[in-house]
Amino acid sequence: MKLDYVTIFPDYFAPLTLSLVGKAAQTGLLEVQVHDLRQWAHDVHRSVDDTPFGGGAGMVMKPEPWGEALDAVLGGETPACLVIPTPSGALFSQRQAEELAAYDRLVFACGRYEGIDARVPEYARTLTEVRELSLGDYVLNGGEVAALAMTEAIVRLLPGVIGNPESLTEESHSESLRHRLEYPVYTKPASWRGRDVPEILLSGHHAKIAEWRREQAEALTRERRPELLARAED
Ligand code: ADE
Repeated sequence: MKLDYVTIFPDYFAPLTLSLVGKAAQTGLLEVQVHDLRQWAHDVHRSVDDTPFGGGAGMVMKPEPWGEALDAVLGGETPACLVIPTPSGALFSQRQAEELAAYDRLVFACGRYEGIDARVPEYARTLTEVRELSLGDYVLNGGEVAALAMTEAIVRLLPGVIGNPESLTEESHSESLRHRLEYPVYTKPASWRGRDVPEILLSGHHAKIAEWRREQAEALTRERRPELLARAED
């Protein structure tokens, strides 16, 4: 998979050299390229923002540098999905991660300030598929952290990135847990600071363990994320 990031803070993407994503880049499973948006800003100050039409606080990212950036980065090659992280996007979910993991190429356009001029995603849709996505109902200072979070959620789904692919099957939000939160997990020692691992997990009785885990996942979801239980698949 090829991953491109357009940003005014290329240094934000240093963590892509670490851990599983970094390893995947080293072994050639991923090709990562970070682009500084200011290379497409041509005035003396290389400015990328301006005041909003209609008034209001803050600054808006100008369309011209973004237009040139998208022409350059999206040009030619494999069809890509352009991801624009924004608090006004649709909610990024495990399902979105699964869908995006099927692309050979993703381009992340990271906005700052009050966002990118609305004509930019409109124009981008004439070039490629565009998804405007939010990490959650809170506001970050820009799209960089959101792009990193989405990248991690997507890349770990690619074949060969996680050593034991079975660890992907029974985790929070996965199909096999019917979109429940994951059950609590334990490791050795069986007794620690006066707290014992639930007896059932030491029993070796696989069917009973599976049943206990289902109940735990259900109870945890009911307590913390009751809205997940109301979802269609149930
Ligand atoms: N940019 C700023 N806030 C964001 C959020 N919550 N999700 C995605 N991108 C963002």
